[in-house]
Amino acid sequence: MPSFSIALAQADDFADVLALQEQNHLSALPEESLADGFVTTQLSPETLQHMSAEQGIWVVRDADGNLAAYACANGWDFYGDGPFQRAAKAKLPAEVDGRTVRADNSFQYGPVCVAGNFRGQGVLQLVVKTIRAHYAPRFDFGITFIDIRNARSLAAHQRKLDFQQIAMLPFATVTYHMLAFPTKPRSN
Ligand SMILES: CC(C)(COP(=O)(O)OP(=O)(O)OC[C@H]1O[C@@H](n2cnc3c(N)ncnc32)[C@H](O)[C@@H]1OP(=O)(O)O)[C@@H](O)C(=O)NCCC(=O)NCCS
Repeated sequence: MPSFSIALAQADDFADVLALQEQNHLSALPEESLADGFVTTQLSPETLQHMSAEQGIWVVRDADGNLAAYACANGWDFYGDGPFQRAAKAKLPAEVDGRTVRADNSFQYGPVCVAGNFRGQGVLQLVVKTIRAHYAPRFDFGITFIDIRNARSLAAHQRKLDFQQIAMLPFATVTYHMLAFPTKPRSN
C-alpha cells in the first residue's frame, strides 16, 4: 500500500489543487462518467488563499510528492449568507444518533477530490480522520452536500464512512444529499 501524508495547504500547493480540480470538474466530464465522481465547486486562486489563511484546506501527497487529494472544511461563517447557505440552514436543526445538529455546532466539509489513480487506497479515510480531529475541539458535527448524480461519493461517505443523511436539498437545478457526521464519539 503506498504511504500518504496530509497537511494544511500552502501557497505552493495551489497550482496542483487547481489542476486536479480542473480534471474532475463537472464541466470537464461526460454525463456517463458522473456517477464515478466529480466536483461542482470552482475554487479560485483567491478562495484557495483565503481558505489556506483560515486553515480550511488540506492536501494529501504520496511519498513522491504527487498530489493525491485536496479537501476543504470551514465553519459556516466562511461561506457567507448566500441563497445556497440559507437553503441549507433551513434544513437545520436535524437529529443524528439522538444528538442535534445545528449551524452553530457544525462546520461544512467539502469539496473533496481524490485523484483518479489514488482512489480506493484509503486517502479519503485519512482526509476525514484528519478533518474530524482538527474540528473536534470546536464543533460536534461536519456537514456535507453530495449531488445526487455522484453515486461514488455517496457510497464512499454514507456507506463506508457512516455519514448520516439529514435531508435532501433541492437547489437551483440540482438536488443534494445533505449528510452529517460526528467529530467525536458520544460522551454518554
Ligand atoms: C468521491 C471520492 C472522494 C471517493 O474517494 P475514493 O477513494 O474513490 O473512495 P473509495 O474507493 O474508498 O470508495 C468508493 C466506493 O464507491 C464504490 N463505487 C465506485 N463507483 C461507484 C458508482 N458508480 N456507484 C456506486 N458506487 C460506486 C466503490 O466500489 C467503493 O466501494 P467499495 O470500496 O466497497 O468497493 C473520490 O472518488 C473522488 O474524489 N472523486 C472525484 C471528485 C468527487 O466526486 N468528490 C466528491 C464530491 S461530493
